Amino acid sequence: MNTRTILEGCTQALVPVVPEDQPLSISSASVFYNSQMELNRDISVAAIAAYSELIASRKQLALSNVTYVDALSASGIRGLRIAKEVGINVTLNDWSEEAYDLIKKNAELNQLTEKVRICLGNANVLLHKERYNIVDIDPFGSPTTYLDAACNSAINMLAVTATDTAPLCGAHLNSGIRKYDAVPLNVEYHSEMGVRILLGRIARDLARHEKAMNPLFCHATRHYVRAYLEVNKSAKNTDKCLKNIGFIAHCTKCSGRSVHYGLAVSIPEKCEICGNKASIAGPLWLGPLHYKDFCDSILVQLNKKEFGKKEHSVKLVELCKNELDVPTFYDQHLLSKKLGISAIPMEELLKELVTSGFEASRTHFSGTSFKTNAGLEGILDTLRRFR
Ligand SMILES: C[S@@+](CC[C@H](N)C(=O)[O-])C[C@H]1O[C@@H](n2cnc3c(N)ncnc32)[C@H](O)[C@@H]1O
Ligand SMILES: [Zn+2]
Repeated sequence: MNTRTILEGCTQALVPVVPEDQPLSISSASVFYNSQMELNRDISVAAIAAYSELIASRKQLALSNVTYVDALSASGIRGLRIAKEVGINVTLNDWSEEAYDLIKKNAELNQLTEKVRICLGNANVLLHKERYNIVDIDPFGSPTTYLDAACNSAINMLAVTATDTAPLCGAHLNSGIRKYDAVPLNVEYHSEMGVRILLGRIARDLARHEKAMNPLFCHATRHYVRAYLEVNKSAKNTDKCLKNIGFIAHCTKCSGRSVHYGLAVSIPEKCEICGNKASIAGPLWLGPLHYKDFCDSILVQLNKKEFGKKEHSVKLVELCKNELDVPTFYDQHLLSKKLGISAIPMEELLKELVTSGFEASRTHFSGTSFKTNAGLEGILDTLRRFR
């Protein structure tokens, strides 16, 4: 294998050489490495550092006793960064022998040979056998085939990446239904739809293990979704957690939506605003996507350490932190077009919504979109004032 050396954070790694003009060959390279995921890994280092400090102080453990597994390691860059830049007890695993050999070389390159455990085997076998404080699943495509084992293994935190955004967001509907046991809708808030379909599936997977989840930080960035979920073993908390599962009824004609909590729930067939037939998405997660205090802890870590994508990471975490906790967002361009008015600066629109007595915020999901509790009619009244 032809390799080159890369540096992320303060960790070096040998990774396969992929012709730059053939990005698609990344996934067929003998060992996988995607430089575009550096932002994902930078935020992972900061989020896992923040959460590890929390576990260590709660359980009165040394940081080096907090356990973490990168169950699908490839070059090992993710787990090795956690070992070097966070200093917790790291296990790296991959079932490819080439990946296993490369992880060993990369551990040596960073003087981590004595500090990390490297395994060659099926992630699902490992995760059914062993428990870790933090379980990280970063697959190519959908994480669903690893979720049962990951939910079994995670004691305190589950971190999951999904790169199959087309099935998650409803663009490949049948594939989404097969993988996520849910119906996603390809609507203007499809990126948020993807996050909520994934979280709904994970909450139900955890529930089988009598584990509840509390999303600490979740984002959709270009071609992937990433979620950091606090996990808690308790039948009572699991029952409470499942109350956040439900459905969204969406009207493709007027863009109105309504949310319906529960698994066995009656959903009006018609749009409550215009009477058009509503489309139904779900079951999905309707609860919060971020915990503000945890976003602050990530920001502290991002400002403390060296990161290649620091500026972008800080901006993203701040946007998420300030996002209003409501289950969908509205696209200003789409609504303005419907009203025949031109788009206005986002700050002005948010100010006007707040002046009218509503809550409103930007969203990390899209620069032209906003979140509000105004409801469609409240939003349209507000927009009309800019005519
Ligand atoms: C997307 S790559 C991991 C990328 C890595 N986490 C990173 O941040 O660069 C997915 C890896 O999972 C491995 N893999 C796929 N299925 C597996 C399984 N069932 N058990 C163990 N490894 C598996 C593949 O060999 C591949 O190296
Ligand atoms: Zn309608």
